[in-house]
Amino acid sequence: MNKRLTSYIGINTTTKDKNRNSIIFAMSTKKMTKEHEKVALVTGSSSGIGFETSLLLARNGFHTFASVRNPERAKAIIGVSDKGELPIQVVELDVNSDKSVNAAINKIKDEANRIDVVVNNAGYSLIGALEDLSMDEIKEQFETNLFGTIRVIKAVLPIMREQHAGTIVNVSSMAGRVGFPLFPAYSSTKFALEGVSESLRLETDPLGIKIVLIEPGTIKSNFASNAIVGKKATEPSSPYASSIETLLKSTTRFINQGTPAEEVAKVILNAVTIDDPELRYLVGNDAIQMIEARKAMPDQEFGTLVKKHLLSQ
Ligand SMILES: NC(=O)c1ccc[n+]([C@@H]2O[C@H](COP(=O)([O-])OP(=O)(O)OC[C@H]3O[C@@H](n4cnc5c(N)ncnc54)[C@H](OP(=O)(O)O)[C@@H]3O)[C@@H](O)[C@H]2O)c1
Repeated sequence: MNKRLTSYIGINTTTKDKNRNSIIFAMSTKKMTKEHEKVALVTGSSSGIGFETSLLLARNGFHTFASVRNPERAKAIIGVSDKGELPIQVVELDVNSDKSVNAAINKIKDEANRIDVVVNNAGYSLIGALEDLSMDEIKEQFETNLFGTIRVIKAVLPIMREQHAGTIVNVSSMAGRVGFPLFPAYSSTKFALEGVSESLRLETDPLGIKIVLIEPGTIKSNFASNAIVGKKATEPSSPYASSIETLLKSTTRFINQGTPAEEVAKVILNAVTIDDPELRYLVGNDAIQMIEARKAMPDQEFGTLVKKHLLSQ
């Protein structure tokens, strides 16, 4: 293979889909990292928070590996990388796959020789009452939001340990602090992510590795259109049918009225560029108000407020 082409990133010569390879060949050129340049990896960079975070980190001097699971869905970030104005390299990374995560991290290590910042952002929401969700749907939700994040953390920790430096940012949610009806699977992945991060911070602190949780409220992105609704959740026979109908009607409206994804990116940039970041950062007035109410109210009263917020027309 032509030497120049082999220096492109994300090439999988065993992939049957030649069109897909040609997109990666054409649009994701290798860029050399400069000496002393900090190196960042962002997962789920095709849209929303991951896209804006990749852009902002690159604009602020980070050589940024913007990772995407499917280049066909990532034309915007590939386009930015291709323009060559920012130090952004697109790399293929599906957090659900050991092989994909290890290949991406090895490539970054080979090319940049270090990873200073990892933003674990890839995720989606599974919507449906617990009773209506299948075990496979719930396991798949955990595979991406929790195990996917853990998989990436485990792959980068040896590199950061060797550097005796690094920051791992885990994008959680206000749903990692508060349980929302019809999001039991999603909320539980984010609650678990909070637990992992809180524990990990204490393990890695002596090694010079910082762990940060970002807890956005409702953010404008493709989150609503990328959400998966459980197969049985919308069946008219479901005992939760009217609640889910109300929720689905309001979800897109909620997201469209949400905080811009750039605001989350700004909070992430701040957290990875200061010496002593907090463990948790709430983003958006809705998240701040929700957590304040959670602290101030008894469980019953708070539950009524949450139901009213989410399930009223
Ligand atoms: N928007 C909100 O209101 C909100 C609130 C709190 C927390 N969050 C969290 O913020 C993070 C980003 O969400 P967003 O709002 O920016 O939504 P988004 O626009 O839907 O972006 C989600 C990103 O995750 C990627 N992704 C999904 N599964 C993946 C996998 N297996 N491997 C690699 N990438 C994968 C998607 O890639 P594809 O394009 O290929 O699907 C996409 O790039 C998520 O963790 C979400 O839980 C969002």
